[in-house]
Amino acid sequence: MKNKTKIAVLVSGGGTNLQAILDAQKSGVINHGEVVAVISSSPTAYALERAKNHGVEGFVVSKKEVGKENFEAEIIKIIEEKGAELIVLAGFMSILSESFTKKYENRILNVHPSLIPSFCGEGFYGLRVHEAALSYGVKVTGATVHYVNEIADGGKIILQKAVEIKEGDTAEILQKRVMQEAEWKILPQAVELVSKEILNMKESEVL
Ligand code: GAR
Repeated sequence: MKNKTKIAVLVSGGGTNLQAILDAQKSGVINHGEVVAVISSSPTAYALERAKNHGVEGFVVSKKEVGKENFEAEIIKIIEEKGAELIVLAGFMSILSESFTKKYENRILNVHPSLIPSFCGEGFYGLRVHEAALSYGVKVTGATVHYVNEIADGGKIILQKAVEIKEGDTAEILQKRVMQEAEWKILPQAVELVSKEILNMKESEVL
């Protein structure tokens, strides 16, 4: 089998972005990467079902069970065991520490449901992002995929896509449109882009 970048996807909820990655792998949009583990911070996340349906190993690491102080160490253990070289935050609702983000510099991607630098940073997650966009009254929003560093939503931007806000939008309607028109497209594209880059880097190191 062709060499692929091994990917761990970190999730907390429904996992529609995880689904977009798994579908893209199946359809060949993601051709240089392979999801080897799905790690959920919640035992009840539907994302775990999606992993199972796709034959990908799922893990639960919950702060409640392992304790806050062991949370990241437990995640790292799985990443290392599975040999993952790329970490994708797909609706992962915990902010990672500086020591974690430094350990995996340029190896962690996140999808955020706005056009960064608008409506981002601590406290801006999930529906709250869309509520903020609507209450500000912006006419265009979107999604961003970026590298993760020690600043919440502050790492280098990889891809962005704009989405129109329509008269009568609620946060729920807008969230769905941003997912369909932007997140589910640019996240798999970015995963493919970075997976390919990592492979190329490894190959040039061998030469
Ligand atoms: C997505 O909209 C994602 O962009 C957002 O949470 C949702 C998770 O949905 N992430 C953040 O707000 C991170 N700051 P999903 O579980 O169906 O992929």
